[in-house]
Amino acid sequence: MKRSVVLPGLPSFSHGADYNPEQWQAYPEVRLEDLRLMNLARLNTVSLGIFAWSSLEPEEGRYTFEWLDAVMDQLHAHGVHVILATPSGARPGWMSHRYPEVLRVGPNRVRNLHGGRHNHCYTSPQYREQVGRINAELAERYGAHPALIGWHVSNEYGGECHCELCQSAFRTWLKERYGSLETLNQAWWTSFWSHTYTDWDHIESPAPHGETHLHGLNLAWKRFVTDQTINFYLHEIEPLRAKTPAIPITTNFMGTYPGLDYWKFAEVVDVVSWDSYPEWHQPGFDVRLASDVAFVHDLNRSLKQGKPFLLMESTPSVTNWQAVAKVKRPGMHLLSSLQAVAHGADSVSYFQWRKSRGASEKFHGAVVDHVGHEHTRVFQDVQAVGTVLAELQPVLGTTVPAEVGLIFDWENRWALEDAQGPRQRGRDYVQTCQAHYRAFWKQGIPVDLVSERGDWSRYRLMVAPMLYLVRPKMAERIQQFVADGGTLVATYWSGIVDEDDRCFLGGMPGPLAEVLGIWSEELDSLYDQEANSLTVSADNGLGLKSSSYRVHTFCDLIHAQSAKVLASYDDDFYRGRSALTENRWGKGRAYYLAARTDDDFLDAFYTALAKTDGVSPVLASPLKPGISVSLRSDGERDYIFLMNWNPEAQSLRLDKDQNLTSLAGAELTRGGVTLPPYGVSVATRSTSR
Ligand code: GLA
Ligand code: ZN
Repeated sequence: MKRSVVLPGLPSFSHGADYNPEQWQAYPEVRLEDLRLMNLARLNTVSLGIFAWSSLEPEEGRYTFEWLDAVMDQLHAHGVHVILATPSGARPGWMSHRYPEVLRVGPNRVRNLHGGRHNHCYTSPQYREQVGRINAELAERYGAHPALIGWHVSNEYGGECHCELCQSAFRTWLKERYGSLETLNQAWWTSFWSHTYTDWDHIESPAPHGETHLHGLNLAWKRFVTDQTINFYLHEIEPLRAKTPAIPITTNFMGTYPGLDYWKFAEVVDVVSWDSYPEWHQPGFDVRLASDVAFVHDLNRSLKQGKPFLLMESTPSVTNWQAVAKVKRPGMHLLSSLQAVAHGADSVSYFQWRKSRGASEKFHGAVVDHVGHEHTRVFQDVQAVGTVLAELQPVLGTTVPAEVGLIFDWENRWALEDAQGPRQRGRDYVQTCQAHYRAFWKQGIPVDLVSERGDWSRYRLMVAPMLYLVRPKMAERIQQFVADGGTLVATYWSGIVDEDDRCFLGGMPGPLAEVLGIWSEELDSLYDQEANSLTVSADNGLGLKSSSYRVHTFCDLIHAQSAKVLASYDDDFYRGRSALTENRWGKGRAYYLAARTDDDFLDAFYTALAKTDGVSPVLASPLKPGISVSLRSDGERDYIFLMNWNPEAQSLRLDKDQNLTSLAGAELTRGGVTLPPYGVSVATRSTSR
């Protein structure tokens, strides 16, 4: 395994923050103090200039870069590196007033007023020209600056614009995809309710007061929004790439944000980065949340097939926008920061360096509070992260060697969530993926998130929860995977529609029917307070106990064809019918889980499958509830993160893992380790795989 260094200009973990010195131009003493405090906080990077456009170009064509020159020089003199932002996340007012086309138009076709941020039209030639120009100025002026180690393009791209320019770009995009109106009408099934299109110009983006019922249109629009946003991004980076070919470019993603297909977006960034804001310390929820956040970290690592990512934003204490903003309990800041590292991040960065004095983010957590000095709990928490990141130097650039893949697919999610039926409530695609993931997380088995792109050869086990939409390429990859000896797990509500959201004819699960060896005849939806159960048969062959488990929400009524039945329903008119099947296919096996279960079943099932497939947990010693274990490795040395998500200390015996030595955090003793409340320990061993 090779190490990948994602920021070649900084050969250590990046510890950084969003820095907004433009807000403090009238306070030179604050800016000087920032430099002292950054060194003290053990920060080595800042993201600079994210929303600074009006301070860089107060009037069209009049640039005021002098303050930024000084800041860049001073940061460099203090050993702080810069990930320099392009300022397109928010515009100066003069631009919106002179060129109203830059303002975004909502789905209701009303154009926004100037204000807020992230509200531009990504098609507007005028906005593209303005952005291209300021980006070229920045690249020209700072491209060779010794502090520059990366580009932070815009900020959290998202949303959509429905202006006439975007409508026309959408129609052009549709012509390219479908070629003829006849093909489009067929693909979207437009004869339904007389929605047939007879002229390209009649096609409009989905609107609350217009078309919402053509799911093919809705899906096409979402695909277009991703493509058009990427197209805008590619335009943004042109001058950066031309002038600084060696400087890596990123834009900060938003986890499982529904609006953009990050699999596609990730292909055009040099390094993936994301902004993580979990709501810690909801009563009794930290362990569950830790697993859900681990899922998103793993997703970000997987977006570029295992290459380390950057944690671009996280709060050192609270946010200003969550319903309740609870401060992090002692330990949680280090623990949640190292969780990102454990799952593949090569940075820990914060929003924000210093709390602004006014406007909407003045109460958002920051490394430096309004009090202005370093004698705060939060500042010390940040310092501690800096210290530990330095100790973790050997981990830099390593990856996570996962043997389990879990398919997470934005297009599938769009179609599944947009459909009317089979049940309007509780389809929960993301939560279902996270529930299946959790069964591995609890055991300390690394998981990659997977798309139809990329190399699947390293996976022994592939989980595909609720794969409702199946593109031909996805079907082909799944079949090949099983034919080659892989183990597949699919669930209820899979193989229902094609890539244009038309139902497969000839029986569900469509192109997955053969590999799964089943036919799904009906899907029963249960009311929220109802349940059924399944009982595992004694001869299941997986070593699963013949117990009964609660099932709820969805019960698929299937016929096992070539598949063998491993569990059956206990109740209702379908008592005795198949609830879990196994199909031997090619050199592999394919399982179909027909109903939604609780965690107890998933835990038992995946523990059994992992054993059968030879997928080992990171540690041989048993874990305790609320302790997670993650692995990074370069193929010669393993780095193992033990994390305690409980508010109480936990001791873990590591009798079966005698080859570990401590690297950082809580020290290992002979028999094991005692993790403090929200405590973490990092250990290392030589790789034996
Ligand atoms: C987002 C933005 C930041 C900031 C934070 C606050 O992630 O990118 O500019 O507003 O939220 O949590
Ligand atoms: Zn527009």
